[in-house]
Amino acid sequence: MTEFARRVEQVSISGIREVFEAAGDDAINLGLGQPDFPTPAHARRGAIEAIESGRADAYTSNKGIRQLREAIAAKYDRDYDLEVDPEDVIATSGGSEALHLALEAHVDPGEEVIFPDPGFVSYDALTHIADGTPKPVGLREDLTLDPATVEENITEDTAAFIVNSPANPTGAVQSEADMREFARIADEHDVLCISDEVYEHIVFEGEHHSPLKFAETDNVVVVSACSKTYSMTGWRLGWVLGSNRRIERMLRVHQYGQACASAPAQFAAEAALTGPQEPVQEMVETFEQRRDLVLDGLTDAGLEVPTPEGAFYAMPKVPDGWCDEVLERGVVVVPGDAFGTNGEGYARLSYATGTEELKDALEIMADATQAVR
Ligand SMILES: Cc1ncc(COP(=O)(O)O)c(C=O)c1O
Repeated sequence: MTEFARRVEQVSISGIREVFEAAGDDAINLGLGQPDFPTPAHARRGAIEAIESGRADAYTSNKGIRQLREAIAAKYDRDYDLEVDPEDVIATSGGSEALHLALEAHVDPGEEVIFPDPGFVSYDALTHIADGTPKPVGLREDLTLDPATVEENITEDTAAFIVNSPANPTGAVQSEADMREFARIADEHDVLCISDEVYEHIVFEGEHHSPLKFAETDNVVVVSACSKTYSMTGWRLGWVLGSNRRIERMLRVHQYGQACASAPAQFAAEAALTGPQEPVQEMVETFEQRRDLVLDGLTDAGLEVPTPEGAFYAMPKVPDGWCDEVLERGVVVVPGDAFGTNGEGYARLSYATGTEELKDALEIMADATQAVR
């Protein structure tokens, strides 16, 4: 009988779903990884106009429509003064597919992929699916990834290491100095750095820096998306950029697995990237206000919580039984160990939820903290 592939048997469905299913219908959900804002009207219009004029009916080029790749290249010039050739970009089905392409194209069976623990759940799963060996590494006290930890863990078998800033699930932002170090490590050890920058615009203190800016070789590949920046998680539109030879390899995976990203989503993304950016600023300002609210609330409740400087997550240290107690009282949070073994003893809270609901949730969490202490 045909058995299931070992690669796939090593992967399980994300534990986050189980938490959602355990919650009642009227629970306050602080488990969601998507902004609670509408997609900007001009982005929606970009898709509608393309659909109505018939421009979204057919396959696009495998890499995506030229105008979108030009808009992505212009974005890197505008935001980071980085020169990107539109030919070195592939539009993908979200940041998720971009991560998949990067790993499939660079990881041979058994090769190691280093990534943060706690870290985004896909890093471990996609490494298995690429038949690689996951190598999760711990974080500093402030929940950032120490470049020295990455360097210590590099072996002859390392294919890649993943950097994620701002980070899911911690909200931590890597400093410019760290990003310079990641670039140096990629150069000196000749290993690939996959920089997952899907939260690049949601930064409250300082600014986002990409290791791409500092690398002297082509050993940095960048993954990003419209999903979080423009509240477009349902549109499924992201991208990967890298040197021409790397893009050519990743395109082989994309071409046969996907053909091209969804055409309407490509037109929406082009409009999002080239249109007014105020909706992004407004969203980030709201997230920052909520971050302060959450930080104060959790601290007042007696919990220790590293200050998140980006994304829309906070990761407090919590006592035993806290997540269950909070869930029983009607607030959904994700236990930290859903993001790796080092996440144990933490919980991830998303504040992509209305401010009034957040205030209610903070009161409930304060009571739950008293109950389990
Ligand atoms: C760190 C990180 N990378 C990538 C993704 C994937 O994003 P997308 O929805 O664009 O596939 C997510 C989504 O939650 C994420 O948190």
